[in-house]
Amino acid sequence: MSGAVTVTGETDLMRLLSTLALSASLLGAPALAGAEPAAAGGNQGGSAAAKDAFIASLMQRMTLDEKIGQLRLISIGADMPQPRLIEEIAAGRVGGTFNSVTRADNRPLQDAAVQRSRLKIPIFFAYDVVHGHRTAFPISLGLAASWDMDVVERSARVSAIEASADGLDMTFAPMVDISRDPRWGRTSEGFGEDPYLVSQCARASVRGFQGSSPARADSVTAVVKHFALYGAVEGGRDYNTVDMSPLRMFQDYLPPYRAGIDAGAGGVMIALNSINGVPATSNRWLLRDLLRGQWGFHGVTVSDHGAIEELMRHGVARDGREAARLAIDAGVDMSMHDSLYLKELPALVRSGEVPVARIDEAVREVLGVKYDMGLFQDPYRRIGSARDDPPDVDAEGRLHRAEARDAARRSLVLLENRQRTLPLARGGTVALVGPLADAPIDILGSWSAAAKARQSVTLLQGMREALAGRGSVVYARGANVTDDERVVNYLNFLNWDKPEVVQDKRPPQQMIDEAVEAARGADVVVAAVGESRGMSHEASSRTSLALPGSQLALLQALKATGKPLVVVLMNGRPLDLNWAKGNADALLETWYAGTEGGHAIADVLFGDYNPAGKLPVSFPRSVGQIPTYYNHLRLGRPFTPGKPPNYTSQYFEEESGPLYPFGYGLSYTDFALSGITLSATTMPRQGSIEASVTVKNTGTRDGETVVQLYLRDEAASVVRPVKELKDFRKIALKAGESRQVRFMLDEDRLKFFNDRLDYVAEPGEFTVQVGLDSQAVRARTFTLLR
Ligand code: BGC
Repeated sequence: MSGAVTVTGETDLMRLLSTLALSASLLGAPALAGAEPAAAGGNQGGSAAAKDAFIASLMQRMTLDEKIGQLRLISIGADMPQPRLIEEIAAGRVGGTFNSVTRADNRPLQDAAVQRSRLKIPIFFAYDVVHGHRTAFPISLGLAASWDMDVVERSARVSAIEASADGLDMTFAPMVDISRDPRWGRTSEGFGEDPYLVSQCARASVRGFQGSSPARADSVTAVVKHFALYGAVEGGRDYNTVDMSPLRMFQDYLPPYRAGIDAGAGGVMIALNSINGVPATSNRWLLRDLLRGQWGFHGVTVSDHGAIEELMRHGVARDGREAARLAIDAGVDMSMHDSLYLKELPALVRSGEVPVARIDEAVREVLGVKYDMGLFQDPYRRIGSARDDPPDVDAEGRLHRAEARDAARRSLVLLENRQRTLPLARGGTVALVGPLADAPIDILGSWSAAAKARQSVTLLQGMREALAGRGSVVYARGANVTDDERVVNYLNFLNWDKPEVVQDKRPPQQMIDEAVEAARGADVVVAAVGESRGMSHEASSRTSLALPGSQLALLQALKATGKPLVVVLMNGRPLDLNWAKGNADALLETWYAGTEGGHAIADVLFGDYNPAGKLPVSFPRSVGQIPTYYNHLRLGRPFTPGKPPNYTSQYFEEESGPLYPFGYGLSYTDFALSGITLSATTMPRQGSIEASVTVKNTGTRDGETVVQLYLRDEAASVVRPVKELKDFRKIALKAGESRQVRFMLDEDRLKFFNDRLDYVAEPGEFTVQVGLDSQAVRARTFTLLR
């Protein structure tokens, strides 16, 4: 990388650095190839004073137009042709770009910034690297299902290594929106419904993306999104409004953003929705009082795509001028995609409507994040020099298949396994059917960054390799994902490079007949059904959770053959699995398992890996039952299983409770859980007690499980949830092995937001619940003393 520095207008940059009298380490760093900067990273505990001095001096030299230019985030391909973009960058009118994903594409843009712009301020390069970059890992919902924070962190680390090797400095991830409504297509992008689990994932992701410092050449700056509450859009309809009580906000929806920020995320993306009548993008309370004020966030805030312009459509701004004023006033540092800041801010400042101090605040954050990324030391830190560019960006050697396969195996959740249908014995014939059995695009999941479908392993490929001559696979598609042409057209209009839902033109019954024929000649049927990836995506809300099209009819016809039926699900949200639960001999939730998905699923089907994933969301029985989240508030008239339902809170036509509870998932072995032992039945203030259980692997195979600890506050000043996840441990036990698992409970774990939004623990009784899912739990009670 040192070679690159020499071609970047080094003299001007160095002159600027020298005049700013920076520390020797900073001045020395650009010449040291791949060196770790000593003083970068305001959020990382580096020298904040050196950073402040550098930025203050730089800002003194900036004109108003140059400052406003820094606030502009350009969408490559969508906003303007490249020649014009280069001129805009050279004119100092761009702070960063997103959507270009190779060093060769990014280099001329950085050249324009550091060789041609007056102050030679580097730009940064961002992208939506959500669950992998060249290698797709399982979608975030799948990663959460691993309940393994090392896996979450490692997947983000690998993503950062791959993305930074493509010249990227920043990712618009992690997405940590709590989602309790599976109709919302972006459920797939987040880590599920639970504040604690999602917060843990948020932390692990930020740690993975940023590594030990965002200044590292192999790190990317994490941008936590979508702040805030985007997952609570009414009715699960994307972009809809959010109306929420402060208690629910603080208790359930805000903690994951906070966790990501506390883990050091360099950025926050502002949500598209309004919150209690005020769009997030113009929400001073949200961005100034809460984010910067109460939480002390230091980093950059970016709008979502075109969100400042949308303030007009929300009806809170009459025109672009007012929209720009509202957004900058609220605390949106960078405007993504729209050019309202560029167009409107100069006049707004000149007229005095926007104080220049507001602009300065925003510019300081943009420059600050660039400083933390190490770009002032070396603008080519991640782009490198042309002679080192990979000859083939998609080269096999750039992928991290082993890591992806490991993560994918850990993300799979076994929901049913009657008569130990799984694992399958090798030998004999497997009929593999279903529209997702050989779907290289879908298995990547949405937001698959730079991953290529031709490099993904489908289930068909994975099973063939797993059998390797010891048995055969007969494949029949059996159904399209949907039979509705309108849906096909809609999905193909989403922002993919090319139409990706390709229909088999045969009539549904003919395809089913062919699959049934294949099943009849086989020993076992594996049916891969679910949703195409575009169905679980941005702007893909559904009114039904049914398997679309003729897929259920396909399963029913396969069942009628009398052959053992293994259903493999690929989907990005909970689906209505009533039929499959009652009829499939085995049911495996695989989400979208990524580049190595086919290998990972085959590993589980043939028993080379013992599944241990647990659901990070509750699966409802029907759409009408939504929301079904497990940690709902207590009620005056709750439904109690086994008691008469009349005048209790339930739906009289349907059984109550989820079809599959949060935290649920089977293994090929069995585990037994002892009762809970408490080290004491009272906890003094500032004290702690220990809850322990013994878990035994009572089966004949080694396996892993997740021991989950829930708490219930028996009486408090506000209504509290029936239970809340507070801790968990994933443990591996050999066949026959027992282990004691200990959880430390201190006052902090008992805290909640009261009606004044103070975070407090109130004295009284608490029930500890420990289980291998959220429903089948052991319980013990203790008292927090006054
Ligand atoms: C999405 C964001 C994403 C952005 C840039 C928007 O449509 O809501 O999550 O980061 O586009 O691609």
